[in-house]
Amino acid sequence: MSLLAGGHSYRVDTAEMVAARDAFLGAGHYTPISEALANAARRPLPAGCVLDIGGGTGHYLRAVLDALPDRDGIVLDLSKFAARRAAKAHPRIGAVVADAWRELPVHDGTAALVLNVFAPRNGPELRRVLHPEGELVVVTPTPAHLASLVRELDLLTVDERKDERLHEALDPHFTLLGRETVEYALAPGGAALAQLVGMGPSAWSARTTALPEDFKTTVSVSLTRYRPK
Ligand SMILES: C[S@@+](CC[C@H](N)C(=O)[O-])C[C@H]1O[C@@H](n2cnc3c(N)ncnc32)[C@H](O)[C@@H]1O
Repeated sequence: MSLLAGGHSYRVDTAEMVAARDAFLGAGHYTPISEALANAARRPLPAGCVLDIGGGTGHYLRAVLDALPDRDGIVLDLSKFAARRAAKAHPRIGAVVADAWRELPVHDGTAALVLNVFAPRNGPELRRVLHPEGELVVVTPTPAHLASLVRELDLLTVDERKDERLHEALDPHFTLLGRETVEYALAPGGAALAQLVGMGPSAWSARTTALPEDFKTTVSVSLTRYRPK
């Protein structure tokens, strides 16, 4: 289903980018992030669904729903290619094409848990759709995330002020509950390196073929939990 207003032009993830993301995530290279999200979800929650904003292929929502057998989940994503894959990722996932910077197509307070993994954060809307006793879980890259790859290939760098900006966007609406770092070494091999680069915003410029097959990098993300104010 698409809820995009007509007449607007959006820059969306292409079919190729989404396919690269699906292949890379499906091979398990980010499984520690899925596990951290599933652990964060295993706590008392109010009634309601699990919403994944900018949820891509549904990879992380699937892991969370496996940990929460009584919940249904919804992926909202701007890319129809992502939403199509997400709708097939799990029997309890529904997917909607929608713009996270606009009013979300979700009633007030109906989400018990909202996930946001490397995706746009619209503070007021995240707050509106979340149940007053629900939780928001946000995953962001730290400056160490894929640092050696970024250096080698001259990719877009992680904004050093990202943490600060995360708080600026969410502080008026949420109280911080806790934060953990998920960090580990990764040597995915040539094909997966190409997928990793191909799924990101530098898809057009990167050259992975020059890298050795055993090239190592570091996965480093913050997982932050919030409660609505
Ligand atoms: C870096 S990807 C992360 C996808 C997924 N959360 C994951 O980690 O696999 C960012 C996602 O946000 C989506 N996105 C970008 N801008 C968006 C917007 N304005 N509204 C909704 N989704 C958006 C993209 O299509 C993409 O699927």
